[in-house]
Amino acid sequence: MLQFGYSAICFTEFLAENGKIDTIEREKDRIKEAKENFKKAEVEDKIRLYEGDAVEILPTLNEKYDAVFIDAAKGKYPFFLKEALRMLNKDGIIFADNILYKGYVLSDYNKHKQRTAVRNLREYLKEVTENESLETTILEVGDGLAISKKIK
Ligand SMILES: C[S@@+](CC[C@H](N)C(=O)[O-])C[C@H]1O[C@@H](n2cnc3c(N)ncnc32)[C@H](O)[C@@H]1O
Repeated sequence: MLQFGYSAICFTEFLAENGKIDTIEREKDRIKEAKENFKKAEVEDKIRLYEGDAVEILPTLNEKYDAVFIDAAKGKYPFFLKEALRMLNKDGIIFADNILYKGYVLSDYNKHKQRTAVRNLREYLKEVTENESLETTILEVGDGLAISKKIK
C-alpha cells in the first residue's frame, strides 16, 4: 500500500508538460519510503524531495509555484502560509489539509492538549479569509480542506 509520498504522486497527474513537484519531509524512514513509492509509481523524475525541516528549507526556496499543498505540523500552518504566499503565482492555489482538526477549530475547544495546533489553524483560517488577495473555500471533507486562490 502506498503511504508516504502518496499526495505528491497524486499531484503528478495534474502536472503540465515538464511540470515538477517539490516536496519536503524530515523523517528519515518516511523519506526512504516516499522515494521507493515515487519509483514504483514511475514519477521519480517529476518529484524533487527536500530532506529536512520545512521551517528551515522553505525560506531558502525562491521558486514560483502554481499550487501548494500544506499537510504537515499544524502548529506551523501560519508560517507555511507566509512562505506559500511568497512563492505562489497569481491564480495559484494553496490547499491546506486537516484545517478543521476533528472539529476543534470551529468549536470553542480550548483544552491544553492540542491548544497550540488549534490556535495556529484558527490563525491560518483568519488570514486566508481576511486576505484580500485570496479567495478561500473551506470544505468539510475528511478533516477539513481549505482551498485558497490568489486572485491578485
Ligand atoms: C500527514 S503526513 C503527510 C503525508 C503526505 N501528504 C503524503 O502523502 O505522504 C505529515 C508529514 O509531514 C512531516 N512533517 C511534519 N512537520 C514537518 C516539518 N516541519 N518539516 C518537514 N516535514 C514535516 C511528517 O514527518 C509527516 O511525514
